[in-house]
Order: sequence, then structure tokens, then C-alpha cells
Amino acid sequence: MKRYVIGITGASGSIYGKRIIEEISKTGNETELVFTKNGKDVFLYETGYDIENFTDELCKNGAKININSNNDLFSSIASGSYKFEAMIIVPCSMGTLAKISYGISDSLICRAADVTLKEKRKLIIVPRETPLSEIHIENMLRLSRAGAVIIPPVPSFYGRPSTVEDIVNNTVGRIMYSAGIENKLYTEWGEK
Ligand SMILES: Cc1cc2nc3c(=O)[nH]c(=O)nc-3n(C[C@H](O)[C@H](O)[C@H](O)COP(=O)(O)O)c2cc1C
Repeated sequence: MKRYVIGITGASGSIYGKRIIEEISKTGNETELVFTKNGKDVFLYETGYDIENFTDELCKNGAKININSNNDLFSSIASGSYKFEAMIIVPCSMGTLAKISYGISDSLICRAADVTLKEKRKLIIVPRETPLSEIHIENMLRLSRAGAVIIPPVPSFYGRPSTVEDIVNNTVGRIMYSAGIENKLYTEWGEK
């Protein structure tokens, strides 16, 4: 069994975080979940689900999800000695992205991301903002140079998506593949 850290912040695009939690749960792997206050509020606003009720329901059906408070810097994921495969911040606000890019570890999400980078584990950031300012782009560049993988939620259209679900799955599949989780959520170019 593998363990993944999922961070959810207050950028638009909570649906991506929701779908990734669902998909990891289907694999039988474990999720360490942490969300910001605005992450919880935007999740409710955009998906109609309270994030804790949503994960409770998944756990009743066998999912292994542990919720960590973003204020709890004593949490296991705040330490490099606690093993996990990868951390995915999805969606990632420009505020959280900026803090991580400057090594400001004053919340659990930022500290866990800092730990992921220092341990040379995979940190996947799914930033969401448009248009992007020079500050946003510089912060992403700094994170990319530090080893993070930046996956903006930008779908491809050569798979000819016909629903919003297809479009969301395209990005979810790419994020999961980058985290080392095989899936069939998107069409590979050249796939028969
Ligand atoms: C409905 C809604 C949508 C938002 N969308 C974005 C967004 O796409 N990108 C972003 O950087 N901030 C967005 N924000 C603003 C962030 O929530 C805000 O900057 C917050 O302080 C981020 O804090 P956090 O990273 O701790 O969640 C949005 C806010 C609301 C209420």
C-alpha cells in the first residue's frame, strides 16, 4: 500500500481535488489530506460538498483517508521521517504557491510541501489563476527549479472530450500518472 499527501487550497478547481481523492481511494492506497480554510469554503461553494462529510462517506465505503488540520504542525506529514510517495496540491492558490516557493512553512500544507522538496520526493502543484502575473510565473519557475512538477489544469482536446467530466478526467489522469498512479482516465496520443 502506498501513501499520498493531498493538499487542497482556496483556488478555483476543487473538482480536481475531489476527483483525485475518489480515484486514489479506488486504488486502495492511503490519502493524507490537508486543506486550508479557503480550500474547504471553495470546495463547498464549487462542488456542493462539505469536504469532511465527503471523505467520511468514502471512508464508510472502505477508503483510507486521514484528515490533518492545517494548523497542526505536530502532524506526521510535517516530518521527513514519515514516508509517502508524493504530495499533490490540487488546486493550488497563488498565495500558497508563493509561500512554498519562498520556503515559508507556517501551515501544514506549506510545511509538508517543503518536506517533500527537501526529501526529493515528488511534489505536484496544480496552480490555478488566469491571467498569470510575472510574480506568479516567477514563483512557479522557482518551484520547478527546486524539483516540483507544475501541472496547470489545461486539458488536451485531441481525445475529443464531450462532457465536463471528460475534460476534468483528462487533467486528473495526467496528475495521477505523474504521481506514479496508473489509470485510464485520459486518452494517450497514438492509443488504438
Ligand atoms: C470562489 C473563489 C475562487 C477563487 N479562485 C482563486 C483562484 O483560482 N486562484 C487563486 O490563486 N486564488 C483564488 N481565490 C482566492 C484565494 O482563495 C485566496 O487568495 C486565499 O487567501 C488563498 O488561501 P489558501 O491558499 O490558504 O487557500 C478564490 C477565492 C474564492 C472565494
